Amino acid sequence: MDQPQANLTPANLVALHGTKSSVVLELDGDSAPLWRYWGPRLLDEVSLPSLRSTRREPSFSLNEDVPLAVFPTFGIGWFGPSALLAHRCGRDFSQSWTGCAVERDGGAVRFTLTDDVAGVAVTISLALDSASDILTIKTSLTNTGQHGLDVPHLASACLPLPDEALALEHYTGRHNHEFQLQQEALGRGGWRRENRRGITGHSGPCGAVVSGKGGGAWGAQLAWSGNHVQSIDWIDDGQFVWQLGEWLAPGEIRLAAGETLTAPEVLATFSPEGADGVARNFHAAVRARMSWPGGKMKSRPVHLNTWEGFYFDHDEDALRELADAAAEVGIERFVLDDGWFHRRDDDTRALGDWWPDTGKYPNGLAPLAAHVTDLGMEFGLWVEPEMVNPDSDLFRAHPDWALQIAGRPMLTARNQLVLDLTRAEVSDYLFGCVERLLSDLPISYLKWDHNRDLTTAGNALGSAAYRAQVLAVYALLDRIRAAHPAVEIESCAGGGGRIDPGIAMRTHRFWVSDCIDAVSRLPIQRGFLQFMPPELMGSHIGASPAHSTGRSQTLDFRAAVALTGHLGVEFDVRRLATEDRARLKHWIALYKTLRGQIHQSTVCRGDAGDGLVWQAHGSPSQDDDSWLLFVYRVTPTEQRHTPAVRLPFLDKGARYQVSVIEPASDSAQYYPGAWLRNAGLPLPPMKAESATIYRIRRR
Ligand code: DGJ
Repeated sequence: MDQPQANLTPANLVALHGTKSSVVLELDGDSAPLWRYWGPRLLDEVSLPSLRSTRREPSFSLNEDVPLAVFPTFGIGWFGPSALLAHRCGRDFSQSWTGCAVERDGGAVRFTLTDDVAGVAVTISLALDSASDILTIKTSLTNTGQHGLDVPHLASACLPLPDEALALEHYTGRHNHEFQLQQEALGRGGWRRENRRGITGHSGPCGAVVSGKGGGAWGAQLAWSGNHVQSIDWIDDGQFVWQLGEWLAPGEIRLAAGETLTAPEVLATFSPEGADGVARNFHAAVRARMSWPGGKMKSRPVHLNTWEGFYFDHDEDALRELADAAAEVGIERFVLDDGWFHRRDDDTRALGDWWPDTGKYPNGLAPLAAHVTDLGMEFGLWVEPEMVNPDSDLFRAHPDWALQIAGRPMLTARNQLVLDLTRAEVSDYLFGCVERLLSDLPISYLKWDHNRDLTTAGNALGSAAYRAQVLAVYALLDRIRAAHPAVEIESCAGGGGRIDPGIAMRTHRFWVSDCIDAVSRLPIQRGFLQFMPPELMGSHIGASPAHSTGRSQTLDFRAAVALTGHLGVEFDVRRLATEDRARLKHWIALYKTLRGQIHQSTVCRGDAGDGLVWQAHGSPSQDDDSWLLFVYRVTPTEQRHTPAVRLPFLDKGARYQVSVIEPASDSAQYYPGAWLRNAGLPLPPMKAESATIYRIRRR
């Protein structure tokens, strides 16, 4: 008979606890620590037998089987996906650990793994934030050998998912069609997504959500704005392994002796509250990473963006009139988009020549900027510093400054090339241009665009420069922010092509999509909110018909959809009919009264069937359990009676007052929380493409 196994001592276990989740790893001598658990919160005291003592090796196994470790590597008996692929001209192709040092610090732990044979060291830090349940993982690799080490792959994190992980939610997307939710069953065949576009991409950040049988969900996203790869593999031990990391181009990383490669961070989380709970944990983590001017987010000002109203057709007098009209309806920040700089009359030329066009602005931008600020609005300016048009003074002077591969054609997209920011003189030139604009003009906001994918991204030495380019962009943003800390920056890449927690640390708003059609926007915004909080979600009231789709929607519907993010207006406000102008004013005023509750809120999203979707923003504390509920009817009802909307986020033991605030009404109704959760809130008849906004308060 087997003897009962003694439990591991606390010295051999690492248990990290959040509010609703726990992580457990088992130390395994000199080997990498073993994954034992990532899931619902355990008791503080974790006591369990060693995996090695309880595991019976099946047939056709190594005598010393290799279980899933925090950093599994190839060639030493681990047959699952390797966290590292590295070699020295074909030698040292397998890594295994001859030492593991452990440093504990409250809710964090750091493992340093050394391999004296292959000459590498890896450090992995895991920190579980007790408030947000976010597990932040940082990994770095050092070449401790004498010769260069080629690194085709370094995972940022390898996470365990139990066999009950069943349903995968991830996103695909393209320009004008970001964050398209894909729901798939997680199968034994594995799942893999790679992005090789050089920026985050219109599918959203490298990340996903995996739901389990019990309603809980695991989520992860990579804090990185470049190429990336993630995969989920079934391993025969009866669990899945989820890897996230950078996708490295051939030859991109060769570490010299003593050199270190730091992988992008991963934000991972388990929530018993499913995908919405994962989203809320991500929101908390991103909020904690934000670097706001003055250390604190100010009320998100209403934008006027000139792009769809004016495109390249800048006329200073017309723009002054636009500013007058904008101020009159309550706009607080006027953003002058593309078209303002030297010879920029269309998208065929001028990127790189960052000084005002003297034809359009004979006295520069100062008079227009002063007009805007005199009206009490902030002045914002569009730039796209990473790009150059072949038809520009900059390119004529420095054709070698564009990323390129000798002997290959330079592939243009939107008629532009990408500058090689890894060259110090290029970054210095761009810093100088932006610095001059920020110093000469009262600019408090930059919209920082990036309108193409990276191709032929070779540097001056002829090597792949995708990763170095991302780091150089981060460094340029950091340098600009250090020089002008009061300036806010928007991350835009043809709409939502660069949305991730890496760039979020350096910017303050995302332009989520160039598609401003309110019906299309609903799923795009819902997908955005899976990863990012609402106060970063640039959402504009666009023109009707929408420029991207040709569909027409009422101003009320467009406004109700835009209201749940950081509001903006993007059409020629001068041309509004009197009635629409009054409605726009009304919606802007309403946003100003609600933004304090929409931003920094707890967000819940749902689908009531029959063409109805909803979103709630609240502050669910005992003292102030109050919510704003946005219900949208997207398509006409197919039923005789509109279904009620079940609101699972309310407290079943509480009583709530429910009032309609838009369309305005003074009547209120009272319901038990359990009723609203289980039977649902009855809705009024709603036409397709309309919205009803409620305030719900605990009474
Ligand atoms: C793409 C952006 O997404 C638009 O909002 C606009 O700024 C254009 N670029 C300008 O070229």
